[in-house]
Amino acid sequence: MDSVGTVLVTGGAGFIGSAVVRHLVRGTKYRVVNADSLTYAATLESVAAVEESDRYHFEHADITDLDRVQRILESHRPTAVLHLAAETHVDRSIDDPTDFVQTNVVGTFRLLEAVRAYLRARPDARSSFRFCHVSTDEVFGALAPTGAFEETTPYAPRSPYSASKAAADHLVRAWYHTYDLPIIVTNCSNNYGPYQFPEKLIPHMIISALEGRSLPIYGDGEQARDWLFVEDHARALIQILERGIVGDTYLVGGRSERTNLEVTQRICDVLDAQRPRSDSRSYKEQIAFVEDRPGHDRRYAVECGKLERELGWRAEVPFEEGIEMTVRWYLENEFWWTSLRSARYGGDRLGLGA
Ligand SMILES: NC(=O)c1ccc[n+]([C@@H]2O[C@H](COP(=O)([O-])OP(=O)(O)OC[C@H]3O[C@@H](n4cnc5c(N)ncnc54)[C@H](O)[C@@H]3O)[C@@H](O)[C@H]2O)c1
Repeated sequence: MDSVGTVLVTGGAGFIGSAVVRHLVRGTKYRVVNADSLTYAATLESVAAVEESDRYHFEHADITDLDRVQRILESHRPTAVLHLAAETHVDRSIDDPTDFVQTNVVGTFRLLEAVRAYLRARPDARSSFRFCHVSTDEVFGALAPTGAFEETTPYAPRSPYSASKAAADHLVRAWYHTYDLPIIVTNCSNNYGPYQFPEKLIPHMIISALEGRSLPIYGDGEQARDWLFVEDHARALIQILERGIVGDTYLVGGRSERTNLEVTQRICDVLDAQRPRSDSRSYKEQIAFVEDRPGHDRRYAVECGKLERELGWRAEVPFEEGIEMTVRWYLENEFWWTSLRSARYGGDRLGLGA
């Protein structure tokens, strides 16, 4: 791909999408078009640092709206799509899977169809065009206590969220085999960092601790995830977009496996140091074990050696450092999450499927 082109980022007002947008505008020469429908999970503050750039453009658009997506493609003429728009919270998918099927499956289908029509009209652009579909390691299901997911691991999604992402991955690969669409699929492990919506584990624990609420550990807290700092994921996606092989899949991970209980205890340690409780006791006293999530996958781990070997990418931020930076960010950006807390998500338990 040329060093200069236009990247259409879907979901660029979300957590990972906004990190990608910030990286693309600040660290590359691409024009960036951010297409986002601004669901409850989106905040435009997350891209405020680059919104004045003449290489940045925002489109308030829903990817399930085929006409709208087609018009965006025709007017901005992107050389690549980085597809991140999705419904992403497993607990919400348990309570109501409707939006997950609509955006993750139907939305991806519409986007594929729009890009197919766009490229059919421009056969010369096809060979350098890339459609990079951003997915999750959750499509592979739960792991035994040892081993890790690889690019060849069979799919076995077990939540409505992961099933909808798996369906989207299959559509994307089918459009490659059937219509020769120049796609790449990525499956990444759990991300954390600035601008993550307060419903997700790490911000939920940080904010609940600061609010003096209990820190709810689902089940025994021994569910293990591989944690990756969001800026490392953003760098990986840009490298994959530029140098990944069409038709290939890349697993992205942080080689930082931690249980939910370990992550929460670590957050408490960092908060104890950075913002001690007024009574000088540890935030760990707020930890409370609660009913587990239905169908909660026990363990995910990602073997990201292909990405490391073939594209030279490495996760640069060790978990210990990343979690300190993340806690500090939430302490310094209280205005960002307090408004979300009052207007969009107050911290109540989700995902019991009631
Ligand atoms: N967060 C993780 O740990 C993680 C890990 C691996 C993969 N992923 C994948 O990365 C992508 C981004 O995840 P995230 O955590 O940043 O999600 P997020 O929930 O923070 O953001 C999703 C964004 O998509 C937008 N969106 C939702 N429906 C839309 C629609 N119909 N049309 C246009 N925009 C829409 C939202 O407004 C929001 O800005 C998702 O595809 C997710 O499956 C996430």
